[in-house]
Amino acid sequence: MVKICCIGAGYVGGPTMAVIALKCPSIEVAVVDISVTRIAAWNSDQLPIYEPGLDDVVKQCRGKNLFFSTDVEKHVCEADIIFVSVNTPTKTRGLGAGKAADLTYWESAARMIADVSKSDKIVVEKSTVPVKTAEAIEKILTHNSKGINYQILSNPEFLAEGTAIEDLFSPDRVLIGGRETPEGRKAVQALKAVYANWVPEDRIITTNLWSAELSKLAANAFLAQRISSVNAISALCEATGANVAEVAYAVGKDSRIGPKFLNASVGFGGSCFQKDILNLVYICECNGLPEVANYWKQVIKINDYQKSRFVNRVVASMFNTVSGKKIAVLGFAFKKDTGDTRETPAIDVCKGLLGDKAKISIYDPQVTEDQIQRDLAMNKFDWDHPIHLQPMSPTAVKEVSVTWDAYEATKGAHGVCILTEWDEFKKLDFAKIYDNMQKPAFIFDGRNVVDPEKLREIGFIVYSIGKPLDPWLKDMPAVA
Ligand code: NAI
Repeated sequence: MVKICCIGAGYVGGPTMAVIALKCPSIEVAVVDISVTRIAAWNSDQLPIYEPGLDDVVKQCRGKNLFFSTDVEKHVCEADIIFVSVNTPTKTRGLGAGKAADLTYWESAARMIADVSKSDKIVVEKSTVPVKTAEAIEKILTHNSKGINYQILSNPEFLAEGTAIEDLFSPDRVLIGGRETPEGRKAVQALKAVYANWVPEDRIITTNLWSAELSKLAANAFLAQRISSVNAISALCEATGANVAEVAYAVGKDSRIGPKFLNASVGFGGSCFQKDILNLVYICECNGLPEVANYWKQVIKINDYQKSRFVNRVVASMFNTVSGKKIAVLGFAFKKDTGDTRETPAIDVCKGLLGDKAKISIYDPQVTEDQIQRDLAMNKFDWDHPIHLQPMSPTAVKEVSVTWDAYEATKGAHGVCILTEWDEFKKLDFAKIYDNMQKPAFIFDGRNVVDPEKLREIGFIVYSIGKPLDPWLKDMPAVA
């Protein structure tokens, strides 16, 4: 029986390994992590991450050929293939701080593999890493090898949170990069054979190591660039009376462009886009390519601009001050169908409103109060370092309250900001919400989920990103 071990039981390691176990009953899969609480949650009925369909997959395999454990060394020692799916956050200090990937967690995983291994291993980079990381990992492993043969493969993960199981069941492609040597090719074939249990062969792409590593960074940069492109156009739509939904539809009908990922919003979030682009920017700079670095940096700048533009719009509309006013925030996760808040635009929007002394009441169906308070108290980039390595729960921001009901959050509020596109927000009784709010009552829709015309009929003053402006907003000071 082939044995697989995955180091890192997070958003990628957990779902990916659960699907491998489901699709490959003859493979034994162990997912290991240094976080005792995370592993305990994977072994309980309350999984540590919310992902549609995940519970079912885990229930079908857990205890049969899928195991979650903190005994990292034992499972690494026994495995034939070791996936490394640890976090690769942005460095917060030292050389490259604020841009370069922090490979501390990766390096310590590699050193541990070298320490405990007694047989040949295929080591698979599942985490998103800078190009040429495989070379560094190879050096760590071979300099400590005790005669063991290691083959390093790059197998970046393209799943999206919220649709992880769907994406893993039916991926657009699986990418495997390896050394172009007989041993390297053999290792690529061994990993390909795992995926071939359910992925059609023409969707399994094999490349050299560096192409595979770079493709992941490039794919995320392209995806984020589409969002920043449509968001940049949304600002121009508001200034001219065009409607970004109509523009995006017309643009996306061009088959060379396509319709996906063209929704204007308050900005992209999530653990990957910003960190991976910053990482790409840093690699460009290190390779003497400042023009290329600046090109990609602009994608992040537009994203930051979009968030601050939103905050400015809220404050400017409400007589240029939100001091002491209750603002309801509906949605805190970085997108619907996940409880993940890493780099969610809601953090920057809330911090912006708090900066203007607002009182904020937040409702998100999947995010806990503890998580929200932690996010609002944390420094930039600190969030992606494992939770068990973070300081204890910081002091709560007292101007922020968290409720488990949208109606409670909006009661007595002056304004409502919709920051995540949860389906349930479309079905809210906005007439009831309006009745219980201060007047004039404002709605700022950062995800374009509500129909502005219907809400205006109720009496709301509505701002929807990139849509023709409410007459009220036209009279307010211009926002930058
Ligand atoms: P995560 O933070 O949810 O999980 C990483 C886990 O690794 C944590 O539970 C941590 O305790 C564990 N860990 C860290 N060092 C360890 C060590 N030495 N030994 C054992 N466990 C260790 O991170 P996530 O979101 O799963 O991301 C992992 C990688 O996958 C990152 O490089 C990310 O860029 C990449 N990725 C993430 C995607 C996403 O949607 N979250 C999608 C595609 C790639």
